[in-house]
Amino acid sequence: MAGRSDFTRGNGHGPPAVPVDAAFTVEHLHRLRFTRHALDPSNPVLREVLGPAETSSGRVLCFADGGVIDAWPELADQVEQYIRSVPGFEPAGSLRRVPGGEAAKNDWRVFEQVTRAIHDEGVCRHSTVLVIGGGAVLDVVGFAAATAHRGVRLVRMPSTTLAQADAGIGVKNGVNAFGTKNFLGTFAVPRAVIIDEAFLATLDDRDWRCGLSEAVKVALLKDERFFETIETTAGRLRDRDRSAMRRVVRRSAELHLQHIVTCGDPFELSGARPLDFGHWSAHKLEQLTGFRMRHGEAVAIGVALDVVYSAMTGRLAGSDAARIVAVLQDLGFTLHDAALGDSALFDGLEEFREHLGGRLAITLLEGIGRPVEVHEMDHRRLADAVEQLGRMTQGSRTT
Ligand SMILES: NC(=O)c1ccc[n+]([C@@H]2O[C@H](COP(=O)([O-])OP(=O)(O)OC[C@H]3O[C@@H](n4cnc5c(N)ncnc54)[C@H](O)[C@@H]3O)[C@@H](O)[C@H]2O)c1
Ligand SMILES: [Zn+2]
Repeated sequence: MAGRSDFTRGNGHGPPAVPVDAAFTVEHLHRLRFTRHALDPSNPVLREVLGPAETSSGRVLCFADGGVIDAWPELADQVEQYIRSVPGFEPAGSLRRVPGGEAAKNDWRVFEQVTRAIHDEGVCRHSTVLVIGGGAVLDVVGFAAATAHRGVRLVRMPSTTLAQADAGIGVKNGVNAFGTKNFLGTFAVPRAVIIDEAFLATLDDRDWRCGLSEAVKVALLKDERFFETIETTAGRLRDRDRSAMRRVVRRSAELHLQHIVTCGDPFELSGARPLDFGHWSAHKLEQLTGFRMRHGEAVAIGVALDVVYSAMTGRLAGSDAARIVAVLQDLGFTLHDAALGDSALFDGLEEFREHLGGRLAITLLEGIGRPVEVHEMDHRRLADAVEQLGRMTQGSRTT
């Protein structure tokens, strides 16, 4: 046929394909460090993960969340002095400010500014990008670092409870596009993640609380005793007890890391994403509320909803569902929102399926620490679960 190439002309009886398949594996090392005051020059942690100068260009370009810079005005000087104190290393320009919060992932210009800085400072693949911030800033800077030169070394210093307990640990990054959460992004293993608990002191109460919903989530999936620890310390956690938070952040981070290195599917090639328990509705609630609802707040509601649905469909004991909802409330989360009544909420299921590819895979619970994967969600019973959750949290609305 005129104008068509040989590729499209086949009649199905062409020469057989010659397979030349070769399997290969690449080993990754995920370095996770817990410390305090990481930017004090006497603290060796960052120096150690930057690696020997011979294996690096010695240049470090640092990005920090605007919220962190405002709370820690001395940060730029500290970063500069620290890097200069490491033999063979120097800062690649001065510390760059990235607007904090979801706006950083919603505005394409932020990604562009970060990649431009990487370009303009002559950062190469043997240089390091250091990012300090909440999950949103880690996501956008991580995406830029993973795609500039097809991958520049990244050291993350998460600065919120949610980023320290979850977002900063993983091997994912991304930005929102076309109204869809995390539509663009990559899987990339960071060079290191440094959890500096000192950063948490300046969080407001909402962001202090946000990481706790992800900790409850991972405890429900993997560790009943951890759930009990959160349950018995809920009051202290809500009242900003630092040692209680240190323990929870640490265990949650360890469980997330363990999952990535032992689950056999770190880059989520199968359709399942067990760590996203409660997230099909959480992502939709964030979007439906124009990101008025924080990720951690939406996850608390999403987890509660799927817990109640698990009970309503006979998988989970009603007493366990009540217990989990009570813990989330004791931590200070509000589990009702007008957006739960939005008919578009259930579109989150199809969007979640599409993001993963393949057939729908939703994690529910059979018990605390006992997840189960299902491939169908009954919309009518989900609507009942929304109502039931409303009834369970009724008392808290009037107090
Ligand atoms: N990549 C992943 O695997 C992954 C996993 C979970 C969540 N996430 C993403 O993480 C984001 C949520 O992250 P988050 O909860 O950290 O919120 P966030 O990044 O939106 O930050 C919340 C607010 O805290 C401020 N802030 C950060 N650190 C501070 C500090 N130490 N002191 C004072 N203010 C500070 C920020 O400026 C911002 O205003 C969402 O976009 C979510 O999708 C990503
Ligand atoms: Zn999450």
